[in-house]
Amino acid sequence: MSWAATQLDQADVFFGHGCNNARDEAIWATLHMTGLMDQEYHEIASNRISEQDYSKIRNLIEKRIQTRQPLAYLIREAWFAGHRFYIDERAIVPRSHLGDLIQDGLEPWVDTTTLERALDLCCGSGCIAIALALTCPNLIVDASDLDASALEVARINIDRFQVEDRVQVIQSDLFQNLPTCRYDLIASNPPYIPADELNELPEEYLHEPSLAFAGGEDGLKFVLQILIRAADYLSDQGYLLIELGNNADALESAYPDFPFLWLTSRSEESVVALLSKDELQRYKF
Ligand SMILES: C[S@@+](CC[C@H](N)C(=O)[O-])C[C@H]1O[C@@H](n2cnc3c(N)ncnc32)[C@H](O)[C@@H]1O
Repeated sequence: MSWAATQLDQADVFFGHGCNNARDEAIWATLHMTGLMDQEYHEIASNRISEQDYSKIRNLIEKRIQTRQPLAYLIREAWFAGHRFYIDERAIVPRSHLGDLIQDGLEPWVDTTTLERALDLCCGSGCIAIALALTCPNLIVDASDLDASALEVARINIDRFQVEDRVQVIQSDLFQNLPTCRYDLIASNPPYIPADELNELPEEYLHEPSLAFAGGEDGLKFVLQILIRAADYLSDQGYLLIELGNNADALESAYPDFPFLWLTSRSEESVVALLSKDELQRYKF
């Protein structure tokens, strides 16, 4: 494992697709290749890695370094909100800060027991929609995305977690094909990378669908459309939860008098905003 971590560090690969350092990625690769991912630490702490497994791990780490593909794509696995999702190049690797917040039951901000219908707008692999459905056992969720290929991955995950009776995918350009029903929660991790930053993204991002990143000139193109239109799709007590990543400051600066409530996730970052229908209706974006 320390061999793998050293190789990853020395090769200067980018971390940020499920892990943020070489050691964690080496552990993930090792547990995956040895089939020990679901074991408790105390059960495997003294295990020795077989020659055969060691060779598989070495090949995986070498491929990771040579191709710069995110590990998640190489092993077709991404962890999100404590669940193991299927992932491949048709959808962006799940890593939204919404995952931690959903895993923590959106407490103390949203009373999830009152939610009946939710929308995951720009759903990609379906990770947010499915995590919501797994956290709230009676919730009905629509998962929408413009990209038909990403929706194929979402369907695989819906099957995997057996939530097909409560999560449906809808191909839609933002709100265009969505039903007029009122959602109690709209969660969204839309594309928000400004045009001038697209060329500076780490090589790992080039393996992901570009549609997932490009947020227009200032990164706020989709965010703004969502802020303007979300209220029309929310129930009276409904909320919009939207991730802005590194572009959170840009949104604050664009609308300095809007009372954004930024939720802090486990990584201590505050890049997800919670807005009520009432606030969205009163403010002229
Ligand atoms: C940052 S990714 C988030 C995916 C997923 N929610 C996640 O957190 O892993 C943004 C998603 O927005 C989708 N998208 C881009 N333009 C869109 C549009 N006009 N309407 C709907 N979805 C769009 C992309 O296909 C991509 O799946």
